Amino acid sequence: MLKVLLASRNAGKLREFSTLLPDLQFVLWPADAPELPETGAFFQDNALQKAEGARTWWLEHGTESVDGVLADDSGLCVDALWGGPGVLSARFAPGLPSYADKGRRLLAMLPEAADRTARFVCVLAFAPMKGEPFTASGAVEGSLAFDHRGDSGFGYDPIFIPDGCDRTFGELPIETKHTLSHRARACAALRVRLKASRA
Ligand code: IMP
Repeated sequence: MLKVLLASRNAGKLREFSTLLPDLQFVLWPADAPELPETGAFFQDNALQKAEGARTWWLEHGTESVDGVLADDSGLCVDALWGGPGVLSARFAPGLPSYADKGRRLLAMLPEAADRTARFVCVLAFAPMKGEPFTASGAVEGSLAFDHRGDSGFGYDPIFIPDGCDRTFGELPIETKHTLSHRARACAALRVRLKASRA
């Protein structure tokens, strides 16, 4: 079983990875480790930046041996907001205390009649301790709800309705999210890449 350092402190992502990648053994990013910079303009740049930054840090400070580092950069891209908040999803409306407030603020930015189409995007970067990093990505198309609905999942789940559903990710069972989410698709692509790299 591959032992992988997960370069994230996002509790929502951590929960999802343990279900979506059950064949990996995860080591968590330590509480005293630095915040990983994400200064790129694209999900792929940020995912690679986090994976490589975490690998460099771990090589110097790591307390156990791991096979590689996994980083996730993801976000919600709203067409009427020219793809925003996108890579800035985690930093959107920094003064607001909760994702419920951030979600409501985002909805308030859309006029009633606006195109409400949106997508969640996830790019995973895997940096083996020895070798070149690679990425895998996934997306799910959908639209923004008119209200914050449901409290399942995390982040912007309660305002996003995936295509083909009439409920938000916040209302759908987590098992349903795992059949069609951006992260589930990225994890499926990552598993293929990991298998190929070990063959
Ligand atoms: P980052 O990848 O650390 O830049 O943060 C991504 C942000 O996008 C998260 O903090 C969430 O706000 C949002 N996000 C990413 N994936 C999801 C998801 O599956 N559901 C809800 N929000 C998400």
